[in-house]
Amino acid sequence: MSQPSTLGQASHGIRISAVSKMYAGTSQPAVNDVSLDIAPGEFMTFLGPSGSGKTTMLSMIAGFVALTAGRIETDGRDISRLKPHKRDLGVVFQHYALFPHMTVARNIAFPLQQRSVPKAEIAARVRAALELVRLEQYADRLPRQLSGGQQQRVALARAVVYQPRALLLDEPLGALDKKLRDQLQREIARMHRELGMTFIFVTHDQEEALTLSDRIAVFNEGRIEQVGPPAELYERPATLFVAEFLGESNVFAGVADGQLAVVRPERLELSSRADAVPAGHPQRPALVTDIVYVGNHHRIGLRFADGTSGCAMRVSGAPLPAAPGESVIASWTPAHHSLVADSTTTRTEHQSPVGIG
Ligand SMILES: Nc1ncnc2c1ncn2[C@@H]1O[C@H](COP(=O)(O)OP(=O)(O)OP(=O)(O)O)[C@@H](O)[C@H]1O
Ligand SMILES: [Mg+2]
Repeated sequence: MSQPSTLGQASHGIRISAVSKMYAGTSQPAVNDVSLDIAPGEFMTFLGPSGSGKTTMLSMIAGFVALTAGRIETDGRDISRLKPHKRDLGVVFQHYALFPHMTVARNIAFPLQQRSVPKAEIAARVRAALELVRLEQYADRLPRQLSGGQQQRVALARAVVYQPRALLLDEPLGALDKKLRDQLQREIARMHRELGMTFIFVTHDQEEALTLSDRIAVFNEGRIEQVGPPAELYERPATLFVAEFLGESNVFAGVADGQLAVVRPERLELSSRADAVPAGHPQRPALVTDIVYVGNHHRIGLRFADGTSGCAMRVSGAPLPAAPGESVIASWTPAHHSLVADSTTTRTEHQSPVGIG
């Protein structure tokens, strides 16, 4: 029991059924009729703007916040009313909650001692957890003698050391600078691979979500707007909200009745003449407003005849179709647009929770 696999264990799924949360003294539900099946071993990310209900949803799974309605199950067992420590879920939050007076090793051992794990096994598991987060050399340090990123790795080790059914992470990288964040993102991806454990990860950083997740659930005002693999959400956003929250998009009216066509910048063709556009491709005249060099590509800012703005993307080295101030014809292959409801009509038309299963 002294290998890193000491920490590995069978994965568990989590089923969220019609869960709502209404905090006392508020008039809007923080979480509104959310249903979602998280598969065993899946890396599921809750993505959404501030106040959209991500932490509330995670806290209900963890057991820190009581449900107003609905139920949450792991492997078919209703855990909605269990105390947090009975749910067997690992939790890591943004602000490291390490015990300041305990060494790294004792911090990690703590949840095992609470569970009355035999001493010899505690030692083996702490060693494995330290290996997993690559802090073998730091076992005897106090938290204050570690960097922020190292402290967060201790928190990760402590959350997985007792082999929870799943790991819940609420913006665990939020307090770290960009470079450390990128590094820990890769560490978390590796931990997920090595442990094979179900991860639920909360972030409002779309890049982080796209990089790490098997699937992303996009939260908006307490509801899930869409859930799917990163590429599907990016290429096929189901709503205008998802299109605009995940990356940049061009939004065109007048392509289909009552719907808007969303075209990603890298899918937008720019030509100097309308007769250069293939037949059957929708087209819109535009003015190039600016061109920004962004390292590996140029971002070409556009303003369309109806006053809306958008952008196209060109890989660096490719010829630029026009200069700022010049007119172009923007066009696209119909297969490359996603049709979404025109949210100016009514939001209720496209807000149904996307349950899976
Ligand atoms: N204890 C509480 N009492 C009353 N309202 C609350 C409480 N906690 C959260 N809320 C409200 O519930 C809504 C959802 O909050 P929540 O913390 O879940 O959002 P979030 O998506 O995690 O946001 P962020 O990205 O800022 O962390 C917000 O409108 C918030 O003000
Ligand atoms: Mg939050």
